[in-house]
Amino acid sequence: MPEVSGFDTVLVLDFGAQYGQLIARRVRECRVYSELIPFDAPIARIKAFKPKGIILSGGPMSVYVEDAPQLNPEILELGIPVLGICYGMQSLALELKGTVARTDLSEFGKTALNVLTPGLLLKGLRGDEQCWMSHRDSVTAPPPGFTVLATSAASPVAAMEHRERGIYGVQFHPEVVHTPKGMEVLRNFLYKACGCKPSFTPASIIEESIRKIRAQVGDRKAVLGLSGGVDSSVAALLMHKAIGDRLICVFIDQGMMRMGEAERVAETFSGTFGIPLIAVDASDRFLDKLKGVTEPERKRKIIGEEFIRCFEEEARKLAGAKFLVQGTLYSDVIESGTRQAAKIKSHHNVGGLPEKMDFELVEPLRWLFKDEVRAVGEELGLPERIVWRQPFPGPGLAIRIIGEITRERVDILQRADAVVQEEIRKASLYRELWQCFAILPVIRSVGVQGDERTYGYAIAIRAVNSDDAMTADWARLPYDLLETISSRIINEVPEVNRVVYDISSKPPSTIEWE
Ligand code: XMP
Repeated sequence: MPEVSGFDTVLVLDFGAQYGQLIARRVRECRVYSELIPFDAPIARIKAFKPKGIILSGGPMSVYVEDAPQLNPEILELGIPVLGICYGMQSLALELKGTVARTDLSEFGKTALNVLTPGLLLKGLRGDEQCWMSHRDSVTAPPPGFTVLATSAASPVAAMEHRERGIYGVQFHPEVVHTPKGMEVLRNFLYKACGCKPSFTPASIIEESIRKIRAQVGDRKAVLGLSGGVDSSVAALLMHKAIGDRLICVFIDQGMMRMGEAERVAETFSGTFGIPLIAVDASDRFLDKLKGVTEPERKRKIIGEEFIRCFEEEARKLAGAKFLVQGTLYSDVIESGTRQAAKIKSHHNVGGLPEKMDFELVEPLRWLFKDEVRAVGEELGLPERIVWRQPFPGPGLAIRIIGEITRERVDILQRADAVVQEEIRKASLYRELWQCFAILPVIRSVGVQGDERTYGYAIAIRAVNSDDAMTADWARLPYDLLETISSRIINEVPEVNRVVYDISSKPPSTIEWE
């Protein structure tokens, strides 16, 4: 049974939309809490959220295809406003005895919207607007009692409403940026039709998180694996606010963090925030295990396993800790589909801790999207460096040193990488880039410095733009910046005499080199 969030809530019923998650995010940007649930969720589950409104998402199918996801008519009897988007509007029209037909015209992409009368839903929109469409079928006649608010070239009903019944529909996608007034449409629905209050703010998210954590943990102890990234950091701050010193953070330095990072994490948490922190310098242990290992997947496996062992040892010492804190995010929950699946993944997040450890999970971020976690982090006073940290792989620099890992190589890469980080930040590009870093391919080449011939290492620089790491494009960094990075590395890291820039995209390359 879902827990009532404490915020005005609008549910998004997912009919298989490409943009389902985006609708929920946009609703939350309007400061109204939203969750995505399957279109056929039992009515009891829907009621348990005590929603103030429901949005029916788009979907890839025609309403006439066999097995097309069908709207549960009971939803229209809940007495709360409903907004259908694209397929969602078509299934509303079908259910309420309007007409949905395959016209010869389909609409994809930017489309002119002709507003006939704004009604409640399109309030603030003028006669001619732009919107974004993606459909083949169209509602050709509205159900009885509905007012047609807008049309487009291929949609005789591009928006409709039945104000008394609180049922609304749009053929276009208000959630995408290509519908410039889309947020206005959503706000009209949320505030005017559903009467929601915009109370889902970082400050109230913190309050609500604390309430939830206290309800779960009570007066018992919890342990958290801190990585230095934004998720585990925000989870740590929320937990500490909720249960104080009954939270113990464990930070394992595997010796392959970036320069100064391990010290910074310790300083931030135990210093600035006064959170009990066990910082374990396990670098010798990890380097020992990695001796002679060159194969990337073996490196990953060894580091993963050793990480579990270390964490296990430390956690065992914390007799009486009942809970293990995980930084699972709402997007992980949606992707995993079920709570069970999410659990398996969460275990994997800390490296697959064995069940016999008998920890119960606390997941204070499992109802938040990444941008909300960042906003909460900022509100809690987390340094910008952590809030906006680019993704950094669990195995750290180990997968950026091609071949065997030695202390000397880690040290060279750390110094070269520090230059990249510094110069990218100086050029105000850090937040814009998905990731930027240095790689040590362990190739030596001939150079000349002063009057001497050198035989030094080459360093590769990688900087990419990406939305989700599934695909990535190499960043067109300014030549002057590349020059500064190159000459600084060669001057400041004597073991290096050559710097190259990686100009491959993903696919066919990957972001990391291993
Ligand atoms: P690739 O190299 O596959 O990376 O394009 C995609 C994203 O995943 C990160 N990455 C990892 N993160 N453990 C992690 O926690 C790993 O073993 C790992 N390998 C890659 C990478 O930094 C990028 O953001």
